[in-house]
Order: sequence, then C-alpha cells, then structure tokens
Amino acid sequence: MRVGIIGGTGVYGIKGGTLAERVVETPFGEALVFLGTGDLTDVVFLARHGPEHNVPPHMINYRANLMALYQLGVQRIMATFAVGSLKLSLPPGSMVALDQFIDFTHGRQGTFFDGGCYGLAHTDVTYPYCPVLRERLLSLAADRRLAIQPRGTYVAFNGPRLETAAEIRMCARLGGDVVGMTGVPEAQLARELGMHYAAVATSINYAAGLKGPTMIDKSGLDENRALLLSLFVETLRSPFQMSCQCAESVRMKHPPTAWEWRTTGQEAGANKDTPTSEV
Ligand code: HPA
Repeated sequence: MRVGIIGGTGVYGIKGGTLAERVVETPFGEALVFLGTGDLTDVVFLARHGPEHNVPPHMINYRANLMALYQLGVQRIMATFAVGSLKLSLPPGSMVALDQFIDFTHGRQGTFFDGGCYGLAHTDVTYPYCPVLRERLLSLAADRRLAIQPRGTYVAFNGPRLETAAEIRMCARLGGDVVGMTGVPEAQLARELGMHYAAVATSINYAAGLKGPTMIDKSGLDENRALLLSLFVETLRSPFQMSCQCAESVRMKHPPTAWEWRTTGQEAGANKDTPTSEV
C-alpha cells in the first residue's frame, strides 16, 4: 500500500530515502510528487508550495495534488502545516493534531463535484480529519515524548496577506486554535476521494494582535521536523483496522485513472458511469 505525506512550509523532503521526482497528469492539471526509494518505496511525498516554495497558498492546485496522490494508489495521507497560534497557551513551536476546521477561504477550486463530469454531491465533513490516523499518531508521539496537542480547530484564510487583529479576535471567539492559509480545501478534497487524511500544525507565530504585529519564527519547524516525519511514516504504515467513516461518506466512487481521463474525462458529462451518491 502506498502512503502519502504532504509537506507545508519548511517541509520539502523526507530524510532516509532518495526521492524520485515525477510529474503526474490529472484531469485538473499536473502535480509534482516525489516517489520514495529504498526504505521509503511505499511513500509518496508532495511539497504543497513546491520544492522551491514558490506557489502561494491561493494558487496551489489542490485538486491536482490530491488527485495525483489518488491516481498513484495513495489511500492514507498525513500533512504538515505551518500556522499562527490563536492562543497564548500555544507558543511558536507548539504542535497541534487537527480535528476541525473553519473555512474563510474564497475563490478556490474546492471540490471535484462541480457539476461537470463528476456530477454533484455533498460530502460529509462533520469530522474532517481521520480520527484513526490522528489517534495512532498521538500514541506514537507519546511513546517518543513528542508533545502534540491532541485536538485543534484550524481557521483557514485565503492569504497571502496575514490577518488583521480584528479577524484574529473573531477566530479566537469562534473557537479556533490555529490559523493558516492552506488547510482548506485540501482536507475536504481528500474526503471526497474517500482517503484517510490527518494533519499536524506547527505554530510559527502568535496570530496578529495576540502579542502585537505578527513575528514569524520558523525555528520550531526545524526542531521537530525529522521526528514528526518519521512518526508520519510509522503512523501511515500501521496495520490497523480503519474504524472511521472517511471512506464511507459521499465521495467520488470511481475517480478516473490517468488513462480514462485522457480519453473521456475532459468533456463534461462524458464519464457517465462515474456514480456519485447524491444527497
Ligand atoms: N496567519 C495565517 N497563516 C499563517 C500564519 C498566520 O499568522 N502563520 C503561518 N501561516
């Protein structure tokens, strides 16, 4: 079974195996991925902002990225995010295993179900992150004495600008823990494909106004990066029964293979036997 890791800011590769670059064509455009070799042959790595960090949050092709992983046979994904902290109790360097998000992004291609050839459907995201992967990660982290807050709500803004102090006061009142620009639509697209997707956010600053102007400090990312990524690999490889609903909610039942989309998928309505459970 292939597993996927999506690296955010500060995470552009995984130590311990050479990664072979591959461009994957999808119905939504191309995605650049890195296929692991050696000890990591089962791992596909994707740098969300590109390996040179040159794709801003609002211009990431989230649909191509998730579809590329799907086409490569990935069913389980762990993702990292660099975020701002909405709480003084989460100083820069703190890590949070996400369990909810609130979405303030706009203008993004956030669904595969846009009425085109994959139809129209409403996917359940009551619990948008896979609880089984999250719990497994937390238990492995506890064994290694790596402190990760077990739950947290990610508030997603479009960026690339940072937030105003008033926006951040609103987020904190809404129950947010961390704020970022890339968590949505990634999580919901994974769910639309029936994939198991979990994420850890690392704070690199107090959000705007919490302690004055935003001061980014990426050193916390470096400190725990290697350990976190090795925990991701171990989590994703764990032989457990998935007792979650990730693969059960309304989702694309038969996403196209690369070959199918080239021959049929580009015409709206062409892929008639792509059933989606409609609500
Ligand atoms: N706001 C939004 N996104 C971010 C922040 C922030 O303060 N820090 C890192 N990503």
